[in-house]
Amino acid sequence: MVITSAPGKVILFGEHAVVYGEPALAGAIERRVYVEMEEGRRDGLTISSEGVEDGDEYALRYLRKAVEVALVHLGADRDRGLEVRVASHIPMASGLGSSAAVSVATILAVSRLLGAELSGEALAGLGHQVELQVQEAASPTDTLTSALGGVLYIEPGRGYKRIAASLPLVVGCTGDPRATKEMVRGVRDLRDRYPRIVDPLIKSIGEVTREAKVCLEERRDIGELMNINHGLLEALGVGTKGLSHLVHAARAAGASGAKITGAGGGGSMIAYAPREVERVVRAIEGLGCTAFQVSIAVEGARVEKKGLL
Ligand code: MEV
Repeated sequence: MVITSAPGKVILFGEHAVVYGEPALAGAIERRVYVEMEEGRRDGLTISSEGVEDGDEYALRYLRKAVEVALVHLGADRDRGLEVRVASHIPMASGLGSSAAVSVATILAVSRLLGAELSGEALAGLGHQVELQVQEAASPTDTLTSALGGVLYIEPGRGYKRIAASLPLVVGCTGDPRATKEMVRGVRDLRDRYPRIVDPLIKSIGEVTREAKVCLEERRDIGELMNINHGLLEALGVGTKGLSHLVHAARAAGASGAKITGAGGGGSMIAYAPREVERVVRAIEGLGCTAFQVSIAVEGARVEKKGLL
C-alpha cells in the first residue's frame, strides 16, 4: 500500500491571465489531499472518499482521469485493479486547488505503487494533462504549485522560479461552489466578444504580477497590487457579490489588500494582512463565512508514512 499527499494552493496574482500566457504567482498551502492506494482484487478502480462530499463527483472525475493518465504514462494496463481512498482537508470547488491536489497526489500514488520515480516537474506535467482533459483550458499553475510546494512565479511555456517570501495571508471562503471550467470559458467568451477591451485587461494583470514578483523579492507590501488585480478580475466578470463583501470587509478590518483567488464566481478570496490578521479573520467570520490564516507549504506532493484516513 502507498499513501501520498499534495497541498492546495492560493493564487496570489495572475489567475485567468495565466491561461493566455501571462505569468502567475502562486503559493502552496498547508491544507492537503491524502490518497491511499493498493492493488485491487478486481479490474478497474474502486474508490472511497472522505471529506470530499461537497464536490464529490467533481473531485472524483479528476481522480479517475489521473489514474488513467498515470497508468498510460507508465505503460501499465489502464484497467489494472486499484483500490483508492481519498480524504481532503481542502474545501472542494473553493478555488484552493483541490482538484490539482487530487490529481497530483493520485499520480504520485500510482507511480509509487508501480515502483516508478517521477520528478516533481513530471508529476506536475501529468497533473496538467489531467486538468486539460477534464476542464478543457488550464494553465500549469495549480498542478505545478501542488507538485513542488513553496511560492512560485510561473511563466507558461518558459518555466518557473521559486520566490522566498513570508506571506501573512488570510483566506476567506464564500461557501459558494464554482467550477473552474465554466469560469475559464466565461472569460474566453468575453474575450471573443470584446478582444480589444479584454486583451489589455489580461496584459495589465500580467504587468501587476511582474510588479508583485519584484515587490515580494524586495519584501515590499503587495496590498495595493492585490487591490488592482481584484479590480481587473472584476472587469473580466469573475467577481460575485459574496466575494466583494469579503474583500471589502477584509480591507476595512486592516488588510493592506484583498482579492479573489483562483477562478472566482464563488470560491475564495485572499487578504494580505501584515497587521491585524486576527481582525481580518473575525471580519470575514462576522459575515458568516469561513476564514483562516494560511501558512505556505514548503513541501509539495510527498509520500506519507501513515495515512490520515
Ligand atoms: C484556477 O485556479 C486558475 C485559473 O487561472 C485557471 C488556470 O490557471 O488553469 C482560473
